Amino acid sequence: MNPDCYHIPVMLDECLEGLNIKPDGIYIDLTYGGGGHSKEIVKRLNAQGHLYGFDQDLDAMEGAIKDERFTFVRSNFRFIKNWMQYYSIEKVDGILADLGVSSHHLDEGERGFSFRYDAPLDMRMNQAGKITAKQIIAEYSEEQLADIFYYYGELKQSRKIASKIVKHRSTTEITTTGQLAELVTPLLGFGREKKDMSKLFQALRIEVNGEMKVLREMLDNATDLLAPKGRLVIMTYHSLEDRIVKNHMKGTDKKNKDSANNQALIFGQTKTPLKQINKNVTTASDAEIAENPRSRSAKLRIAEKS
Ligand SMILES: C[S@@+](CC[C@H](N)C(=O)[O-])C[C@H]1O[C@@H](n2cnc3c(N)ncnc32)[C@H](O)[C@@H]1O
Repeated sequence: MNPDCYHIPVMLDECLEGLNIKPDGIYIDLTYGGGGHSKEIVKRLNAQGHLYGFDQDLDAMEGAIKDERFTFVRSNFRFIKNWMQYYSIEKVDGILADLGVSSHHLDEGERGFSFRYDAPLDMRMNQAGKITAKQIIAEYSEEQLADIFYYYGELKQSRKIASKIVKHRSTTEITTTGQLAELVTPLLGFGREKKDMSKLFQALRIEVNGEMKVLREMLDNATDLLAPKGRLVIMTYHSLEDRIVKNHMKGTDKKNKDSANNQALIFGQTKTPLKQINKNVTTASDAEIAENPRSRSAKLRIAEKS
């Protein structure tokens, strides 16, 4: 694998600026991928500075940079606190996350992330993960499937799709991306087949990897780990994820409205130590979108800890 072809880093300058890198600071890139962001962060560090790069994917680990100022951690980023404890790091100066899958995942047909290739329905970012897309398609109830397609895929036809899958699987096992795509295509919006199919695959991927739950956990842990004035820089590609990040930065997460939670409540808001410092949300420039279409749906939020 040529790491340079792995992934073009999205909003690289904006992310670097958001991190406000101090040469002797300690940073974490929670989504190393092809190291597009990490390589540039490391360049800005001196011998005292350090970057920890997380990724749960074996391919990312194999392409990881070798540098005294860098440590690769092959783990789900939900465990950042445990890992930082392991490395005796109490606080860090900045944390970056560029969520979702990389172009590498989509291009590696056999991992089942893309309907462009006929492959086993897998979609695990961590190749040792417990549940695959095939199991979800085979075992979830019609209602569960419809909810996944509706909430994670924002698909209007979610109920029809779920019903067709359940009917079909009663006689024939659905094991490949090709079978699933063929079954579902007639139900998709005319002229929107590719868009809707991407949404369907995205929804399954989010469920396979537990992405929403893991994101919430990560945001709490990352916020605790930040030093005063430390930066949290999060890039998302899905409106639900962006809402979770926005609410976390504002202290308006749903869980915080729960009075059983010990945190101080101010009219349904917690006293969050974070303050979002970019106005609303930053998106990629037209020039970047033209060069890298993946950046079109990216939303960047930057917060500073008080
Ligand atoms: C969008 S890519 C990051 C690309 C990277 N910024 C670059 O420029 O090369 C997201 C990466 O995060 C990893 N990832 C996603 N969720 C993760 C999680 N919960 N824990 C660890 N890694 C995760 C994926 O395996 C993928 O390699």
